Amino acid sequence: MEQTHRPAHRRKKGKWQQQQLLLLLLLLFLFLSSSSISSVEGAAAWDGVAITRTDLQGLQAIKSDLADRRGVLRSWNGTGLDACSGAWAGIKCVRGQVVALQLPWRGLGGRLSDKIGQLAALRKLSLHDNAIGGPVPAALGLLRDLRGVYLFNNRFSGGVPLSIGGCPLLQTLDLSNNSLTGGIPSTLANNSRLIRINLSYNNISGSLPVAVTRLPSLIFLFLQHNLLSGSIPNTWGRSSSNGTYQLQSLHLEHNFFSGGIPISLSRLQMLEDLSLSNNELNGSIPQEIGTLPRIKTLDLSENSIAGSFPASLCNLSSLIELNLEGNHLESPIPEAIDGLRNLSVLSVKKNQFLGEIPATIGNISGLSRLDLSENNLTGEIPASIDNLTNLTFFNVSGNNLSGRVPVLLSEKFNSSSFSRNIELCGYSVSVPCPSTPPASPPSSPSTSPNRPSRRRLSSKDLILIAVGVFLALIFLLFCILLCCLIRKRTATSKQSTASDAAAAERGEKPGPAAGAEGETGGDTGGKLVHFDGPLAFTADDLLCATAEIMGKSTYGTVYKATLEDGSQVAVKRLREKIAKGQKEFESEVSVLGRIRHPNLLAMRAFYLGPKGEKLLVFDFMPKGSLAAFLHGN
Ligand SMILES: *[C@@H]1O[C@H](CO)[C@@H](O)[C@H](O)[C@H]1NC(C)=O
Ligand SMILES: *[C@@H]1O[C@H](CO)[C@@H](O)[C@H](O)[C@H]1NC(C)=O
Ligand SMILES: *[C@@H]1O[C@H](CO)[C@@H](O)[C@H](O)[C@H]1NC(C)=O
Ligand SMILES: *[C@@H]1O[C@H](CO)[C@@H](O)[C@H](O)[C@H]1NC(C)=O
Ligand SMILES: *[C@@H]1O[C@H](CO)[C@@H](O)[C@H](O)[C@H]1NC(C)=O
Ligand SMILES: *[C@@H]1O[C@H](CO)[C@@H](O)[C@H](O)[C@H]1NC(C)=O
Ligand SMILES: *[C@@H]1O[C@H](CO)[C@@H](O)[C@H](O)[C@H]1NC(C)=O
Ligand SMILES: *[C@@H]1O[C@H](CO)[C@@H](O)[C@H](O)[C@H]1NC(C)=O
Ligand SMILES: *[C@@H]1O[C@H](CO)[C@@H](O)[C@H](O)[C@H]1NC(C)=O
Ligand SMILES: *[C@@H]1O[C@H](CO)[C@@H](O)[C@H](O)[C@H]1NC(C)=O
Ligand SMILES: *[C@@H]1O[C@H](CO)[C@@H](O)[C@H](O)[C@H]1NC(C)=O
Ligand SMILES: *[C@@H]1O[C@H](CO)[C@@H](O)[C@H](O)[C@H]1NC(C)=O
Repeated sequence: MEQTHRPAHRRKKGKWQQQQLLLLLLLLFLFLSSSSISSVEGAAAWDGVAITRTDLQGLQAIKSDLADRRGVLRSWNGTGLDACSGAWAGIKCVRGQVVALQLPWRGLGGRLSDKIGQLAALRKLSLHDNAIGGPVPAALGLLRDLRGVYLFNNRFSGGVPLSIGGCPLLQTLDLSNNSLTGGIPSTLANNSRLIRINLSYNNISGSLPVAVTRLPSLIFLFLQHNLLSGSIPNTWGRSSSNGTYQLQSLHLEHNFFSGGIPISLSRLQMLEDLSLSNNELNGSIPQEIGTLPRIKTLDLSENSIAGSFPASLCNLSSLIELNLEGNHLESPIPEAIDGLRNLSVLSVKKNQFLGEIPATIGNISGLSRLDLSENNLTGEIPASIDNLTNLTFFNVSGNNLSGRVPVLLSEKFNSSSFSRNIELCGYSVSVPCPSTPPASPPSSPSTSPNRPSRRRLSSKDLILIAVGVFLALIFLLFCILLCCLIRKRTATSKQSTASDAAAAERGEKPGPAAGAEGETGGDTGGKLVHFDGPLAFTADDLLCATAEIMGKSTYGTVYKATLEDGSQVAVKRLREKIAKGQKEFESEVSVLGRIRHPNLLAMRAFYLGPKGEKLLVFDFMPKGSLAAFLHGN
């Protein structure tokens, strides 16, 4: 997967750009040698302050309670006075106090010492994807500066500590995928800055505290796959004096919530993603849900929801996925369903929908999955569905449909999509339609000229297939050659451990080229590559940072970004047209990123977004804008 990041490894195409790059490097070198050349390597971030005694004791206690099979904490040794110098793995300090403890994917076991409460300046705690057990230390509540807690994918047990309400700056609490029990403490809502709560995939029980539904700045609330019960509070979106409430993503699926769907959810004007599936909800779907302006996915499947398909839902033009599967809904499907212009997935399987399938479904041109199975639908399958060219899944089995299946549908989907409809015909040779030749013009002209033309095509097809196979073979050969080349080169450059390659899902990841750390962000889909340097942040940290514009130029926009750990960086977003192709960009930037000099602003990382966004991350210069600095040189 990973490309090598050295221009020397590129193929011919890049040669001209290599020369450009060399020229640039030469110029840079001349510039450098005109000043001092002493410490090109040592851009260490150590501010020279030895670690405080309490912090050192805290770290030593943490080490002794963790089980470190791989020896990743071997560097936590000696007198410890150098703990803040960058010598200790996973530790970042400011003025002798630990501000970040980050050791994800290190195979750590044991437990997390309560002495973590001694790291009074801690801002970020990231130990996700280890095998750490025992309780989540209550002492976290002592950390007044704590902003991010990432302990997901471990084996923590016991409850979410009540004391967590004592961290006034907390923004992210991710304890998902552990074995936590007990309830959700309502003290959690004391943290009015919370942006993301993820307690999913635990055994948390009890009800959802009202106070949590009122957190004004919350954007993500993930509580799915727990044992929560009681009704979902009808208090959403009531607190913010500014009117807009920030919640974008609400996941409560796979719990035991009962009662109705709260009407107040419709106040969440930023909501994009709502899943209440696999609970015990009853009552009907409130009309008001049809007023969520940004909703993209709505999943109410596998509950006991009754009543009708509210016409107001058809007003959700931003909706991409609607899942009402496995409820007791009984009504016709509204004609106005084509108001869901952006819909791609519609499933109403296993309900009791009545009446005919509205022909207007054929207007939802992007529909790719349509599941109407196991209902009480009658009438014919509208011919307009043949117009849905992107349809890859279609199922109407288990209804009371009749008549002839539209031709393209019957060719595209096999008989299981149509079975258990006593009067439906023409979808397979074993279920022919009554021989009375349907003189109706729409079906016969489309069938009869189709058959011969298909036969004529098939010889053409043969040639096409042959050519296709040939091209595929050549491509395969090319790929194999390329693989061999790349492997040979990575072998000669620097060995990366197998564990590095395994760790790629969320958060940080050791990286591709020497001196650089890369990450393929699970949440964001982008790719972050770090160069050596004091700042280690994830793509997520970067994208979630608060930013203000410092300046604009023809090359792009420069922002000052404040990361969760309080550090500041300058981020330059390159204008799309100016930037080159991804690979060229990567390899050139990788070279530039290794240049370290006191007189040069160090590039710390670059980020390649899933849509081709290109960000360069530099040290932040408190005085003067980066743009001025860059163009001054
Ligand atoms: C501490 O560990 C580092 C890295 O493992 C090693 O280089 C150093 O010699 C050790 N120091 C002491 C005092 O053991
Ligand atoms: C939970 O963590 C385990 C390993 O600790 C992993 O295999 C599993 O995929 C994770 N589950 C989720 C939902 O992330
Ligand atoms: C709630 O926050 C206030 C102010 O930040 C703090 O004094 C108080 O101790 C917190 N309450 C709990 C239960 O943590
Ligand atoms: C929440 O945690 C689950 C399981 O670890 C993960 O799959 C999901 O991406 C997380 N979501 C957020 C917003 O953190
Ligand atoms: C929840 O509890 C059940 C029963 O004790 C157990 O089998 C399951 O593994 C637990 N799940 C988690 C995520 O801890
Ligand atoms: C209201 O919005 C302003 C500006 O967006 C913000 O500074 C302020 O904190 C918000 N107030 C509340 C209560 O959210
Ligand atoms: C919904 O379920 C609750 C208990 O779970 C029950 O009290 C209530 O009557 C039910 N409502 C409807 C409309 O069935
Ligand atoms: C859909 O929206 C329009 C305009 O926003 C409104 O007039 C209409 O009443 C809505 N339809 C339903 C069924 O809510
Ligand atoms: C529908 O999707 C298109 C393209 O994805 C988008 O531009 C448009 O804004 C969407 N419409 C609504 C109402 O969200
Ligand atoms: C069909 O799918 C393709 C590829 O996913 C997409 O580009 C196209 O816009 C879709 N067509 C419609 C009508 O939505
Ligand atoms: C739907 O059909 C099933 C059996 O096919 C029947 O038991 C049920 O009463 C029907 N529901 C409605 C609302 O007609
Ligand atoms: C399919 O689409 C074409 C062009 O958009 C339209 O003329 C035709 O009436 C549609 N067919 C059906 C059955 O809706």
